[in-house]
Amino acid sequence: MTEKTADSLVCDCAGVRRHKILQLIAQGVTTLERIEDITGANTGCGSCDAEIQAILDEQIEKSRQ
Ligand code: FES
Repeated sequence: MTEKTADSLVCDCAGVRRHKILQLIAQGVTTLERIEDITGANTGCGSCDAEIQAILDEQIEKSRQ
């Protein structure tokens, strides 16, 4: 498994990296749809939605601790 860094590409089609998604979540964007609207992620092949959702879930979980 390749290690995921902040610079990892989450959406290859739109060139959206993990740090961009983390930044949006930190700004209060907490739905997959809004992240897609803002970044254009998941508007190509559609294979990255589970990964974006996983990042969201992980961050929401962290913020509850
Ligand atoms: S990898 Fe995100 S839409 Fe293709």
